[in-house]
Amino acid sequence: MRSRILGLGTYVPDRVVTNDDLTQYMETSHEWIVERTGIEQRHWVSEGQTGADLAEQACRRACTNAGVALADIDLLIYATLSPDHDFPGTGVFAQRQLGLGTIAVLDIRQQCTGFIYGLSIADAFIKTGTYTRVLLVGSEVHSNAMDISTRGRDIASLFGDGAGAALLGPSDEPDCGVLSCHLHADGSEAEILWMEKPGCMYQPRITAEDIEAGLHFPHMDGRRVFKHAVTRMPESVIEAVTANGLTVQDIDMLIPHQANLRINEMVAKQLGLPPGKCHNNIQKYGNTTSATIPLCMEEAIALGKIKRGDLVCLTAFGAGLTWASALMRY
Ligand code: COA
Repeated sequence: MRSRILGLGTYVPDRVVTNDDLTQYMETSHEWIVERTGIEQRHWVSEGQTGADLAEQACRRACTNAGVALADIDLLIYATLSPDHDFPGTGVFAQRQLGLGTIAVLDIRQQCTGFIYGLSIADAFIKTGTYTRVLLVGSEVHSNAMDISTRGRDIASLFGDGAGAALLGPSDEPDCGVLSCHLHADGSEAEILWMEKPGCMYQPRITAEDIEAGLHFPHMDGRRVFKHAVTRMPESVIEAVTANGLTVQDIDMLIPHQANLRINEMVAKQLGLPPGKCHNNIQKYGNTTSATIPLCMEEAIALGKIKRGDLVCLTAFGAGLTWASALMRY
């Protein structure tokens, strides 16, 4: 038995922040950001809007698109790097808002690779018959956790807020559904993209000096992250097609994590995929971490670029470092 995406749903907050808007807060320019990243705008939450709020909207839309009632869901998987609270995980807040009763909730922390890790978990539970209606959501609120001054411009210009969800269940067509997932991690360079504090290993977990130094904001060695991404994502795509006795040329559409348009152009080029077989929408949303893949895939479906039965490959790379791919006949 295979699992299959029965419906996708996405949600971004109303507030659009353009590159020009960012110049109010930091020394940057539309030209710099577009040239280096492809990003033209991103969405930011309004005061009081939470990650669980974004997730709730995306989940409701995924269920509607799948034609599945909320009452039939038996597992919620919640992927995020920006939880609403340290604990409990944000999944239970989304569960409560969705009125999902006492079903199982699993929070996962694989950052930009979270959606594919979550997909692999949903796939495994469905294949074993443990659960039959699994709601997977990636939801992120970055805007209130970044240093939006010139000091933090390398990060603050990249990330946006948003959520994307998939409703998965057993496939009724034997050849369609998730063919395989391939997960990887390497902690040897965990500190090239991280938020160090507050941290349980410190006493106290954070000090006024730490805050002054900006250690509570995310930090990144952008160049190293870039180099790893353009290596690991093509590797993971080749791993996926090879495992299924297929070739890159068989792929109808590649949906890569949206961290940087230049990264994705290099990935597609290395794989020998024409631009029409790789969909990107980072221009509108920036990097929404665990939400990029459903946001990008749903748009490709809406544009008619992905049809039922097409061979679709997902690939992602993120903090950890983590990377993964999934191959499916949509
Ligand atoms: N606007 C203007 N200047 C900026 C800027 C911004 N938003 N962000 C950084 N700069 C500056 C830097 O401060 C640096 O200035 P300096 O030379 O005076 O020190 C200069 O631009 C060049 O920085 P550099 O880091 O060499 O640029 P880059 O070509 O590597 O591009 C990134 C920076 C962040 C766009 C790029 O490294 C990147 O996208 N990396 C991958 C990041 C990523 O994908 N992260 C998420 C993974 S899931």
